[in-house]
Amino acid sequence: MTARPRLGVNVDHVATVRNARGTSYPDPVQAALLACEAGADGITAHLREDRRHIRDEDMRRLKEALPVPLNFEMAATDAMVEIAAAIRPHAVCLVPERREELTTEGGLNAAALGTMLGARVRALAAAGIRVSLFVEPEREQLHAAAALGVAAVELHTGRYCDLAETARHAELERLHAAAAEAAALGLECHAGHGLTCDNVGPIAAIPAVAELNIGHFLVGEAIFVGLAEAVRRMRAAMGRAQ
Ligand code: PXP
Repeated sequence: MTARPRLGVNVDHVATVRNARGTSYPDPVQAALLACEAGADGITAHLREDRRHIRDEDMRRLKEALPVPLNFEMAATDAMVEIAAAIRPHAVCLVPERREELTTEGGLNAAALGTMLGARVRALAAAGIRVSLFVEPEREQLHAAAALGVAAVELHTGRYCDLAETARHAELERLHAAAAEAAALGLECHAGHGLTCDNVGPIAAIPAVAELNIGHFLVGEAIFVGLAEAVRRMRAAMGRAQ
């Protein structure tokens, strides 16, 4: 556990805007460097199978340019493991992926996919990469992650974020319990998906949560206040929760 959760800024949607017009701008690497200057502790990018936002070359350039750790989100496939092993990011977060989804819709079913995941986790670890699994805040998933020997889990906060503020209590309790269980199992605990300046406080205040990964809201806010200011406001919102 750290004194405050680290903030990982996800730059996928800078690439979404670039790709919408087939231009070379806006550049996700330039955005990542700006986010770092504004206080990001790490940068996250998701190389999807359909390359709808981040592309292979973006990942290579991020690895080269960043002064902070790169968290490479990817599906657990042999093709992705090969790319990650060549790029050697600080960390890989394995996520479930379906082509037709708008974004990562649920956690990885680590409990059901143990054998398939085990081989990929071992290959990534052998390349010197820290591995985390994006999972639902469920006991069964945490125990499966621990059995796979990963360094960390990232708890899916999507359901918490989708609920009205008045209806969040039970889901927040579930996230608290899962974070405590992850820590007891020796797993570093991260969290993310759907977080905004308005809903991040209770998640940043969970004692065992060491890292938050946030993207869509920050890139959207950047339209109004600029990316650096959006990152600073997020850091402040996380800080107020401590
Ligand atoms: N963490 C994981 C594992 C994700 O898949 C995503 C979305 O790419 C995020 C965090 C960031 O979610 P958001 O873009 O909603 O902040």
